[in-house]
Amino acid sequence: MKTLANGNICVINHPLIKHNLSVLRDEKTDGEKFRAALKRISYAVFLEASKNLPTEVKNIKTPVCKCECESIKEDLNIIIAPILRAGMMFCEVAQEMMPQAHIHHLGMYRDERTLQPVWYYNKISEAPKDPENTYVFVLDPMLATGNSALDGVGNFIKKGIPQENITFVCLLAAPEGIKRLSSTFNGVKIITCSIDKELNARGYIVPGLGDAGDRIFNT
Ligand code: URA
Repeated sequence: MKTLANGNICVINHPLIKHNLSVLRDEKTDGEKFRAALKRISYAVFLEASKNLPTEVKNIKTPVCKCECESIKEDLNIIIAPILRAGMMFCEVAQEMMPQAHIHHLGMYRDERTLQPVWYYNKISEAPKDPENTYVFVLDPMLATGNSALDGVGNFIKKGIPQENITFVCLLAAPEGIKRLSSTFNGVKIITCSIDKELNARGYIVPGLGDAGDRIFNT
């Protein structure tokens, strides 16, 4: 794990990630191929993102003998929080890998003029009963300006969940977004597949992959 701008950021370095990332970046990749590459990459991303979840020892009997095994702690409250709409495909894979998780949709779109998030749906109503035992994964393929990320993560901080239990999961991150998120919440982990060069005047990541939602949903 590499530290940048006071935060914990992990850039996953793997040939299969790099390969699928180039498929995603290529403007010639159609929606079907884009979704398939995103799904493949998502498994690797969530293995990394979930690697610090606490486990407990269980006594299991295999067909051969008794043994001690580790499983994810049973009383853990895992929250997967996709930022709509581009976070939805990540969410599909995350839920497949952590079927016990609760899904909290964070509905916000970006005002193209101000680049600020506009909320239209927030499924988080009450504070979790045991915040110390709650682990949150906020999902958005693109960490661009960091405005939506800040709002999404901030939602859970307000509910008393420790920063160290929150992971922001993205595909691509711009230095501006990393700086904004990690300078506000320096205990929150960021998992990404690449730190790109910069943002353009419209707040798009450069070189990036364009509008992730449009490419996933063929809009
Ligand atoms: N959201 C996207 O979908 N793409 C970007 O480059 C930035 C934000």
